[in-house]
Amino acid sequence: MDIIDHDRLLIIDFGSQVTQLIARRLRELNVYCEIHPYQNVTDAKLAEIAPKAVILSGGPDTVTREGSPRAPDSLWTLGVPVLGICYGQQTMMVQLGGEVHGGKISGGGGTAEFGRAYVTPSEDRIDMLAGWFLEEKEQVWMSHGDHVAKLAPGFEVYGTSPNAPYAITADLERNFYAVQFHPEVHHTPNGATFFENFVKLAGFKGDWTMGAYKDIAIEKIREQVGDKQVICALSGGVDSSVAAALLHEAIGDQLTCVFVDHGLLRLNEADEVVGMFRDHMNLKVIHADETELFLGELEGQSDPETKRKIIGKLFIDVFQKYANEIEGAEFLAQGTLYPDVIESVSFSGGPSVTIKSHHNVGGLPEKMGLKLVEPLRELFKDEVRALGRELGLPASFIGRHPFPGPGLAIRCPGEITREKLEILRQADAVYIDQIRKHGLYDEIWQAFVAILPVRTVGVMGDGRTYDFACALRAVTSVDGMTADYYPYSHEFLGETATRIINEVPGINRVTYDITSKPPGTIEWE
Ligand code: XMP
Repeated sequence: MDIIDHDRLLIIDFGSQVTQLIARRLRELNVYCEIHPYQNVTDAKLAEIAPKAVILSGGPDTVTREGSPRAPDSLWTLGVPVLGICYGQQTMMVQLGGEVHGGKISGGGGTAEFGRAYVTPSEDRIDMLAGWFLEEKEQVWMSHGDHVAKLAPGFEVYGTSPNAPYAITADLERNFYAVQFHPEVHHTPNGATFFENFVKLAGFKGDWTMGAYKDIAIEKIREQVGDKQVICALSGGVDSSVAAALLHEAIGDQLTCVFVDHGLLRLNEADEVVGMFRDHMNLKVIHADETELFLGELEGQSDPETKRKIIGKLFIDVFQKYANEIEGAEFLAQGTLYPDVIESVSFSGGPSVTIKSHHNVGGLPEKMGLKLVEPLRELFKDEVRALGRELGLPASFIGRHPFPGPGLAIRCPGEITREKLEILRQADAVYIDQIRKHGLYDEIWQAFVAILPVRTVGVMGDGRTYDFACALRAVTSVDGMTADYYPYSHEFLGETATRIINEVPGINRVTYDITSKPPGTIEWE
């Protein structure tokens, strides 16, 4: 049975790093699309998919190489609109009778073009460019070595850039459009309008929703998993929570979640997460309380990387121990998002420097002989949140700030003790309460307290105190890769410092961290 009863747009993927961004732009326009690698799109497959429009992505190859990827020949007689982007434009031209010359990369000596460029329009303004060229020039993003040297019959030029005389081309008769630049990336600011025009002329209604996406995702999980058992490491973070809720809706009791409690969680966090999933949503959740094991192994350790490595290794050991007890588990579910997928592909192919050893269960599936289910692989963070809302997760849960896998360990520079963790939990709870009370929570990307490994002298009442100092952190960010400190008012900072010192025994000094990233990192370790 075909699970999709909806107009679909087919994206033929030629291996670009940013093909998923095309899909994202289309989802934003409420258009249903499927990405298929070019190798799989045979003439028969194309007929089976029966798309209402087709987009050909960019790609790393050069059409001047013999045997390089091509679109299926029947595409040109299907009678639907086609948009070719970068490599997609070039294969369109050579397949339809034009010419492409090699640039620097493929040895042809022509003009390569990478980065920002400005396209100017031709005299004729076509519907596809509605909303474009309101200014004289339109900023676009180029990334190409080869270039079109002769247009295929039927095509005309509708926009040029200094290094791409065929930046925007079209055969209006057949509804074929071919562009050299990448309308899908952020650096083509008006790219969304470009896609909007394309789907409009293809006749899409724009009625595809996250609810519909959810139904398809559920069907796909059922197809992949069959009647097998699945295990999932639930951290309480948005990604693993949404993945677990989605899997549960798809396969019910075939899913078992393991919540590894390393004793480095925030105040009441374990109870809240386990309570919500087990009691409220009826998931099978194993609460692996391994506080003693983790804190025992961390005793006396103060080096940040050593602490991270200990936690990472124990996490995997513990997860494996509990997972081994789940009979017949064949799949491991992970809340991998699309940015994790692209970031894990090294563009240069070279090794990148490790700033911090990140905490995940990578490598585990092979070791345990498990297959992976990654139902969020196509989505971006904000889309995962939208899916979470569809699945009925509470808004307060979905909007939570990110929390790192190693937990409070990396907010406790130096040696970790139970006393320090307890103080930290209390201070963090007061701080977050302050932020919520002042209505700032959603403006801030991430906020937390770090307890500093120094005691300072203070005076309270008539007595001397000698307690810990702490640092408040709050940053704005889009993706955690770069960040700036949040500009609180002095009143807010003063009130918060007073509350923490009054309400949390063990702290007598509060500082505010105003370091951006870079040069700092968000966490203290
Ligand atoms: P940094 O400190 O590197 O953090 O600027 C960037 C973002 O990543 C989070 N973070 C982690 N998340 N495992 C995680 O799941 C980790 O090991 C880890 N270390 C840092 C951090 O909280 C921030 O959101």
